[in-house]
Amino acid sequence: MGERWYTESVIYCLDVETFQDSNGDGIGDFQGLISRLDYLTRLGINCLWLHPIHPTPGRDDGYDATDFYNVDPRLGTLGDFAELLHEAANRGIKVIIDLVVNHTSDEHPWFQSAVASKDSPYRDWFVWADKEPADRFQGMVFPGEQAETWTYHRRARAWYYHRFYDFQPDLNFANPLVRAEIKKILAFWIQLGVAGFRMDAVPFIIELTEPGRSEAPMDFDYLTELRQHIQWRRGDAVLLAEANVEPEKLPEYFGDAGGSANRIHMLFDFMLNGRLVLALARQNPEPVIDWLKTTPKLPPGGQWATFLRNHDEIDLSRLTAEQREDVFEQFGPDEDMRLYDRGIRRRLGPMLGGDRSRLELAYSLQFTLRGTPVLRYGEEIGMGEDLTQAGRYAIRTPMQWSYATNGGFSDAEPIRPVISKGEWGFEQINVTAQRHDPASLLAWFERMIRTLRESPEVGNGTCACVDQPLPPGVLVHRADGPTGSMLFLHNLGTQDATVDLGALAKDTHLPNDVFADQEYEPVGDFTQLQLGGYGYRWIRLRRSNS
Ligand code: GLC
Ligand code: CA
Repeated sequence: MGERWYTESVIYCLDVETFQDSNGDGIGDFQGLISRLDYLTRLGINCLWLHPIHPTPGRDDGYDATDFYNVDPRLGTLGDFAELLHEAANRGIKVIIDLVVNHTSDEHPWFQSAVASKDSPYRDWFVWADKEPADRFQGMVFPGEQAETWTYHRRARAWYYHRFYDFQPDLNFANPLVRAEIKKILAFWIQLGVAGFRMDAVPFIIELTEPGRSEAPMDFDYLTELRQHIQWRRGDAVLLAEANVEPEKLPEYFGDAGGSANRIHMLFDFMLNGRLVLALARQNPEPVIDWLKTTPKLPPGGQWATFLRNHDEIDLSRLTAEQREDVFEQFGPDEDMRLYDRGIRRRLGPMLGGDRSRLELAYSLQFTLRGTPVLRYGEEIGMGEDLTQAGRYAIRTPMQWSYATNGGFSDAEPIRPVISKGEWGFEQINVTAQRHDPASLLAWFERMIRTLRESPEVGNGTCACVDQPLPPGVLVHRADGPTGSMLFLHNLGTQDATVDLGALAKDTHLPNDVFADQEYEPVGDFTQLQLGGYGYRWIRLRRSNS
């Protein structure tokens, strides 16, 4: 894997502080993560995305940094971090980190200086208004937890802008000094050896906010600048952006109209996420097919990152009210499982009622759709959520490693309780229990990921739905690339199905099943392909298309 490695990767995301504690203080750390790299190697992932690692008061789980040039001392030292990069590289694992520069923590020295005096050199690093802005109550990201986007600061004697919580003042990207500083931050981490960044809140970084003007102009050129900057420092470094915007606006994040991808390499496919969840809820693939057909065309080199769960709520805001209701009814029936009127704060296992075959189906589908799959820690063993935790913390509980105290995460009182007792407790669900069991979900993920890595056309080829009459609930898609062609059948419904894909047979060469939910009759002439309820089949049509 060399060129465009990100198109052939499986990304695993985790928060260092909830993964593995090494020194008995109840907080996960770099040394703990290092000790688990062999586990991740066996799982087969080859890129780690770490949630924010910087010093932080921790009011938004690290998405509020007080120093972009350091690591949170609770996680270890910069030395430990460098060690992690080295150990990961030894195992062929690249590390990307969260870059949260839309805002700082209000305890960041820049903001502290800015509020102390109008003459502070950092005053203009943030976004101010002397008078109460007319759009003060517009554009909140966390309804229910956030009352406004402009807050009056008594010491500063002015209003400051914050797209997110009031303790996260937005940096002023109209200020060239801020832009230069952000470049320095990127360069610093690249110099240490990170392979790229998951860029937080990109649409808000490039909007040039002015008080009272809710539709701010967008500066896409800054993304081009950042891309150039990192690419000169490290040729294979990547930007993976969070930009949950309307579909027609997505291409601009990748690059200039008509050109190649000269901005962000990879964007999370939030649309697909919502559609996938809807399709699962309705046991009908239509929403996914529809999105695959209407996805805007990406410039060459642009790539999607697919996901079923990330660290936030499942955001259903791009579904219609009716679609959202269907998802809520199936997967978030209790008010307490929902968040911000638009999302679900649960993990996939419990959402799917702990139904193993349905869980496999869901992940098989995500991992075979175009793009680079992102997997959230704990999903590979089917962890659950803890609804007694506030908001999004429900799905941020410590990793469940073993039967030992606190699930083997830590000997001490953990920073957040490990899920214990009952169906989802660590006594039932943990890595040790699944490691040696060939029938476990973990073993399934290992096989699935290994098979995927033998099928690079999924990540670097084209993806198309097979447009033919199909039994209800069934989705058939194919991936074609220089290395060959793969065909995928997924049955989102519970009824066994027989699929006739005879028309495809002539274009195959030694076709065979490479992965499936059960043993099926060989593919034969493709006219009688069996598919169980919640079943899936990965069929190699041919190797090499030359
Ligand atoms: C992004 C993150 C989220 C965080 C927010 C503010 O949306 O995914 O976790 O709270 O940005 O930084
Ligand atoms: Ca620790």
